[in-house]
Amino acid sequence: MSEKKSPPEHLLQRGSWGSKFAFVLAAAGSAIGLGNVWKFPYITGVYGGGAFVFVYLFSVLLVGLPLLIAEILLGKSAHRDPVGTFIVLSPKGKKYWQLVGWMGVVSGFVILSFYSVVAGWALSYVFRSIFEPFSGLPPEKIDHLFVELTSSPGIEIIWHFIFMFFTVGIVIGGVKKGLEKWSKILMPLLFGIILFLDLYAATTKGFVTGLTFLFKPDFTKLTPDAILQALGHSFFTLSLGMGAMITYGSYLKDEEDIVVPAVSVAVLDTLIALLAGMAIFPIVFTFGLKPSAGPGLVFRTLPVVFAKLHFGMVISFLFFTLLTFAALTSAISLLEVVVAFFVDELGWDRKIVTPVVGFLIFLLGVPSAIWDSFFDFVDWLSTNIFLPVGGFFIALFTAFVLEEKLKKIHFARYPEYLYRGWNFTVGWISPVLVAIMILNRFGILKLIFSSPFLRKLLGVE
Ligand code: PFF
Repeated sequence: MSEKKSPPEHLLQRGSWGSKFAFVLAAAGSAIGLGNVWKFPYITGVYGGGAFVFVYLFSVLLVGLPLLIAEILLGKSAHRDPVGTFIVLSPKGKKYWQLVGWMGVVSGFVILSFYSVVAGWALSYVFRSIFEPFSGLPPEKIDHLFVELTSSPGIEIIWHFIFMFFTVGIVIGGVKKGLEKWSKILMPLLFGIILFLDLYAATTKGFVTGLTFLFKPDFTKLTPDAILQALGHSFFTLSLGMGAMITYGSYLKDEEDIVVPAVSVAVLDTLIALLAGMAIFPIVFTFGLKPSAGPGLVFRTLPVVFAKLHFGMVISFLFFTLLTFAALTSAISLLEVVVAFFVDELGWDRKIVTPVVGFLIFLLGVPSAIWDSFFDFVDWLSTNIFLPVGGFFIALFTAFVLEEKLKKIHFARYPEYLYRGWNFTVGWISPVLVAIMILNRFGILKLIFSSPFLRKLLGVE
């Protein structure tokens, strides 16, 4: 630890969550997003259902939860943004660890730029559900609507701008009057909508088929790629690897517990992903559609169903509102990481930094709205490289660099074995699994396994 100087005024005035409950709601808001309602159902569909879900649950438990605790612990120990957190907590002479924080700030910037484009699609579908409902439209026309939207950059950019405008509007209010206040409004609405949609799905013919698809594992369908996808998704869905949870943890008061809140966030996030699947797949099966429709599942496939349902307009409005709210509570955490950096490290005024950074992120999102290849590239870069690499170093730092005494304080109310189990998982199990994932992304695993020497050794040839 660096020697104690009295911190500058702006750091003393840093906000904090009003209660533990407020933190759980806001952190769950960050975790629950497009990843749960858009991505989880479609990758589950593509990778064959139950067995994929099973591996995903394991990944959340073995990699996600331990890292979530680690990030919250780091933030709460330093009460600073991710860069400041690593500066404060690194031992003397090892300030290079702050690079991990820098990478987090850059990731927040990049991820939000394309995240907001997708959120813009969702927002445009909320308005479409009211003003130009899908009711009665033939499937080809509905499919064409999505193609039309994603090939009209001008329109996409307008929705992207509107979404960023709301995001900035919330973050500008700061921790209590922005993040906390809006999480308390949006999250209960989100829970209410998803429960309603599940109740609705329970009345459809395909309910049992949908649940069987989601929960009955068929391990013969499980491919190595599916396992690595599940692992990668456990990062994205829990907002890990870029300091979002460090930042949210940094607004926790010293006396608050971190273990139960972290478990609550992981459980809520998983629950919402499963509930989203339970709402979507029964509808998909009832109408004989393919669950493996890919990224278009919620934008292309579901509206086909909404067009045929009684009250389809209401269901479609609720579904896309759910998607937009989920995206908004995640987007604010992405923006908060970047804003917290300028506010904490440079002492800049939040009211000025937030709109400026928000506008720059909007600009970076423009090429994603115009070129699919740019969108795919930034998505690939952040989900497959930035987050796992960030998570890898956060895990190693927490397990091997951070002073033991600092870690143990947070576990004081729990039995010693819990601390040991967590520390071991963060230091060994999570980094090894993440390293395998990263190597695979670069094709290095394939390269290694195709080497004639290794194949001979393993008796493959
Ligand atoms: N967890 C969000 C989701 O599932 O949509 C995405 C996300 C938010 C990733 C914030 C990273 C982050 F820092």
